[in-house]
Amino acid sequence: MTPIQRTIINKETKNTPIWLMRQAGRYLPEFREIRKHNNNFINLCLNEDLSSEITLQPLKRFELDAAIIFSDILMVPYGINQKVEFKKDFGPLLGPLNIETISKVDEIDFLQKLYPIYKSIKKVSENKLVKNKDLIGFVGAPWTLLVYMINKHSPKKELIKNFFKDEYLINRTLLIIEKFLKLHINHQIKNGATIIQIFDSWAGLLEEKNLPDYVYIPTLNLVNYVKSLNVPVISFPRGIKNYKSYCDIVKPNIISIDYDVDPISICKEIKIPVQGGLDPKILLTDTINLKKETLKYLKTFKDHPYIFNLGHGVLPETKPEMVDYLVKMVKDY
Ligand code: CP3
Repeated sequence: MTPIQRTIINKETKNTPIWLMRQAGRYLPEFREIRKHNNNFINLCLNEDLSSEITLQPLKRFELDAAIIFSDILMVPYGINQKVEFKKDFGPLLGPLNIETISKVDEIDFLQKLYPIYKSIKKVSENKLVKNKDLIGFVGAPWTLLVYMINKHSPKKELIKNFFKDEYLINRTLLIIEKFLKLHINHQIKNGATIIQIFDSWAGLLEEKNLPDYVYIPTLNLVNYVKSLNVPVISFPRGIKNYKSYCDIVKPNIISIDYDVDPISICKEIKIPVQGGLDPKILLTDTINLKKETLKYLKTFKDHPYIFNLGHGVLPETKPEMVDYLVKMVKDY
């Protein structure tokens, strides 16, 4: 069993495994070098040689316990024929959402469009760098994808006005997304993903009364689906505030927490394994501060099954030496 599986399945607490969200990304000069020659981010995700190489880059440098496939949650809207672009210094920009177009998409066409992702997963899974390690596949949660598909770009702090106006469009879209997310999960697993993480980056934008319809129910369907394939599932409902209710209802195998919640109360309230928490901005400070903040999480979760990770992705300004320091510190603890 891999170190991460021992934490999630056997609930072991002796060693703390570590991987980092966005561990392959712009803070690595070797990633920037590839990116420089590949302007189109979508095409880069669909280049199985380069995406598998990028996935393995952080494993060549650091003693991480998992690789996470280099792709993006927005490859699913792309796969169902909504236009998706990544604009420099702006982020994702989506085209119009047309219910007629997305409801006509054939499963075979979707799989064919995303086929290089599955080939890339297969390639990574066969590489000796991931031996006795996990390969994390992922999807965006239905709610977070809906936000991008309707909002067309990152919502930052709030949703566009009248977001919920067209209830028919929202409900139809959610069902279509759910169907293709299951297909995408299934093919990632078939090709070698050993864990699935569900990213609900915009869960925190919803009022509590809307959580059941947009977060709890659609995510529970996906969680049950992953469990039915005998693969552990990590949920990351960023900004949810009430992590306890979320865990009680959605029941992932492990919950990933953001940096706004107090790890001590999480440790007390939540019975399932926990992942993450450290503010990625701490990696922009110095090693003394990084050590202090890292110890806070390690000590809090000393007797709780815990996977070290951040409360969100590694920031592009991060120095690789700080990541090296962090990984070594967690491994030596
Ligand atoms: O974690 C990993 O290393 C795996 C790869 C991965 C990427 N995106 C690569 C990426 C994963 C798991 C994601 C998930 C993702 N994508 C999320 C959920 C996590 C989160 O950040 O909340 C979201 C919301 C997206 C959508 C997205 N993709 C945004 C908002 C952006 C622009 C912001 C940014 O950081 O540039 C992206 C682009 C993106 N996805 C990059 C990478 C490495 C940067 C691309 C570049 O080089 O310009």
